[in-house]
Amino acid sequence: MPQQHPPRSHAIHARVRSYSRAGGRLTDAQARALERHGAYYVVDVPRADAIRTVDASYRLDPVAVFGHAGQLRPLIVEVGSGAGEAILAHAAAHPGVDHLAVEAWETAIARIVRDAAKAGLRNVRVVPADAAQLLATALPVGCASEVWVFFPDPWRKPRHRKRRLVTVAFADSVARVLRPGGVWRLATDWADYAWQMRDVLEEVSALPEGLQADSTGPYFRYDDAGARADLGEATAEENSLGNGPDPGSPAGMRGGWSQRYAGRVMTRFEQRGIDAGRTIRDLTAVRTSEMWVPPRAEPVAL
Ligand SMILES: C[S@@+](CC[C@H](N)C(=O)[O-])C[C@H]1O[C@@H](n2cnc3c(N)ncnc32)[C@H](O)[C@@H]1O
Repeated sequence: MPQQHPPRSHAIHARVRSYSRAGGRLTDAQARALERHGAYYVVDVPRADAIRTVDASYRLDPVAVFGHAGQLRPLIVEVGSGAGEAILAHAAAHPGVDHLAVEAWETAIARIVRDAAKAGLRNVRVVPADAAQLLATALPVGCASEVWVFFPDPWRKPRHRKRRLVTVAFADSVARVLRPGGVWRLATDWADYAWQMRDVLEEVSALPEGLQADSTGPYFRYDDAGARADLGEATAEENSLGNGPDPGSPAGMRGGWSQRYAGRVMTRFEQRGIDAGRTIRDLTAVRTSEMWVPPRAEPVAL
């Protein structure tokens, strides 16, 4: 029986930024790369009111951007690609798949462009934008075969947690752009962010009977519930928030972790987490065939 949806009422245009600054100083080589190859690799985005924002009326057509004239190819969207190690390696190994890197940092964008050009890749483009906005409005519904969020900024201080990217509102946007059967892959080296990610997945997934509390709709299947419950035990440290088992699920009764995604190459951020002794946790959710319904707008108080 289809699950009943409670009304979705979260705001989709959260102005809280999950990235620290869009600026950064370009090296001469990065500036040259942008100048030479930017027109090919960087997607021009009309802004709403500030750098990296996205005009709500803007629509990004991946078929036009990649120039395949009506040909529907698999599309991977990576949110926060950093220097682009993961997406560029995947693009080089899968020429029949298109890859869209969404990144806020100018220096990171320049590095992706430089390295994509160096490798002669034709199946990569970079969107310099706040992914939270881009996925909420600009990308077509059901356009992506995969969405990747690897090692998002952890925003560890309690007063900064509201800036974390992976929330139920963001999950709704991921559900919006993923096609049925599409895959959302996440990874982090911060235990308390991993728990937050898993809570989000549980909230938006169809779970075994008895486990669905405030689900906003079965947009995802989260098949790893209960799997690898002891992940993190080996690195447990008293009073350390970055390690250890989930205090909310000490017996692994709920939640769980996926196997490491084999298609992800090691990045600077993952290596830094490993070097610091933190546990890397992966999560994988599969988009169900449930039709995406736009979130209901908050009523405006008069
Ligand atoms: C910690 S780095 C991780 C980079 C890469 N995924 C990796 O594993 O190495 C996070 C990146 O996400 C970018 N980012 C954070 N929030 C973003 C957003 N809302 N839209 C686009 N990029 C974002 C940051 O600029 C940064 O480059």
